[in-house]
Amino acid sequence: MELSHIEHIGIAVNNLEEAIAYYEDKLGLNCYAIEEVPDQKVKTAFFKVGQTKIELLESTDPEGPIGKFLEKKGQGVHHIAFAVNDIKNSLQEVKDKGVRLIDHEPRKGAEGLDIAFLHPKSTFGVLTEFCEDNNK
Ligand code: CO
Repeated sequence: MELSHIEHIGIAVNNLEEAIAYYEDKLGLNCYAIEEVPDQKVKTAFFKVGQTKIELLESTDPEGPIGKFLEKKGQGVHHIAFAVNDIKNSLQEVKDKGVRLIDHEPRKGAEGLDIAFLHPKSTFGVLTEFCEDNNK
């Protein structure tokens, strides 16, 4: 298993438009994509910072994962995503090492990436995502 870089940092926000305006107007970044991911009940907005993306997450359903996160913890960093070259093997490897998984099989995330989450109870409180880009 090799984590090549931080693919993105997921940040939960109450209002996507307002958050986009902050990243564009105050930090000078450019929002290059907005995408709804019905599966995860979120609307996402993406910015590139070098090799790493900022993924803003606005909930589309209070019962969805981001809706619940915002309710419980408020706005802020939601997860860190590492790019891996073989997500299935990477999941198996950490599972074999005793890490608890949320997703035992990869699923499709935003931008068509194959993604899977590790459980924050096993990762010192940081919801951790693996993602593999198979669109290349
Ligand atoms: Co993510």
